[in-house]
Amino acid sequence: MLHHISRPIRLLSLLSATTLAAAFRILPIIPRQTTDADFFNPLLNGGSMLDQVPGVLGEPLNIIISAQSSPDVLTLDGIINFAKAIGFSTECLGIHSGAPQSANLGDGNGWVNQTIELREDYGDSTLGTCLESLIGGNHFRVFVQNGTEHPTGALFLAVSTEENVTEGHTTAPDGYDTGRDLFSAAAINNGGTTSFGGTTYSTAGTNITGLIQPGSTGIEDGIATDGIVTLLTITIV
Ligand SMILES: *[C@@H]1O[C@H](CO)[C@@H](O)[C@H](O)[C@H]1NC(C)=O
Ligand SMILES: *[C@@H]1O[C@H](CO)[C@@H](O)[C@H](O)[C@H]1NC(C)=O
Ligand SMILES: *[C@@H]1O[C@H](CO)[C@@H](O)[C@H](O)[C@H]1NC(C)=O
Ligand SMILES: *[C@@H]1O[C@H](CO)[C@@H](O)[C@H](O)[C@H]1NC(C)=O
Repeated sequence: MLHHISRPIRLLSLLSATTLAAAFRILPIIPRQTTDADFFNPLLNGGSMLDQVPGVLGEPLNIIISAQSSPDVLTLDGIINFAKAIGFSTECLGIHSGAPQSANLGDGNGWVNQTIELREDYGDSTLGTCLESLIGGNHFRVFVQNGTEHPTGALFLAVSTEENVTEGHTTAPDGYDTGRDLFSAAAINNGGTTSFGGTTYSTAGTNITGLIQPGSTGIEDGIATDGIVTLLTITIV
């Protein structure tokens, strides 16, 4: 008798979970619960939410672009176009300042170098990054979670605000939290709608705690952070 009752109930809850999931995909709401479909937690498989600067210490991976974003956003060209939509462009004349950093996203790839580094363009996507190199500003590094053990496709970003060249391009005081918040504000303000090169994006954000310990342990320049990671889901509309 019990079986006859419990089975329809189980089916019903399965159905409503599916319907709910579909609703979330069509109309992301803020804030929402994060799921395994957004990204795989690197800490569960030997990874780290701090990248490594050659030497020892690292920068926090303080923004995750959800794997539930449109697939075209999760490619190299895709994230570059999105970055341009929120005011970034590729580095000044292709000149890299500093060595690449590496991250271990727990996806089976181990420690791998950043894919790309982008800088804020100050409204001019050709020369703007040169200006940024002089006056400082926001920049970020991109790591892809695509190892065979957990190939979610999510992008992990180390975002920070730097001081200008006379200050030796060190990370500004509070530069990690400030960089993260400037980046996500540029993405989600104005109702989350941004566009560049004929592509329009709708972005929703939610904050996650518990992935990075608040404070400055293990962080480059001893700069403390609040430990918040912002998850962005970017949909091409
Ligand atoms: C990362 O880049 C550095 C500098 O180009 C290089 O020496 C190192 O071998 C690279 N590491 C990996 C894991 O590719
Ligand atoms: C660089 O930053 C220092 C310290 O904040 C400031 O005194 C200097 O004017 C800045 N230089 C430029 C070119 O913005
Ligand atoms: C993972 O992404 C990086 C950066 O785009 C790429 O170089 C690499 O080939 C990808 N690896 C796999 C297994 O797809
Ligand atoms: C995340 O937290 C930061 C710091 O409290 C806040 O400034 C930001 O607005 C929050 N972002 C979202 C999407 O809730």
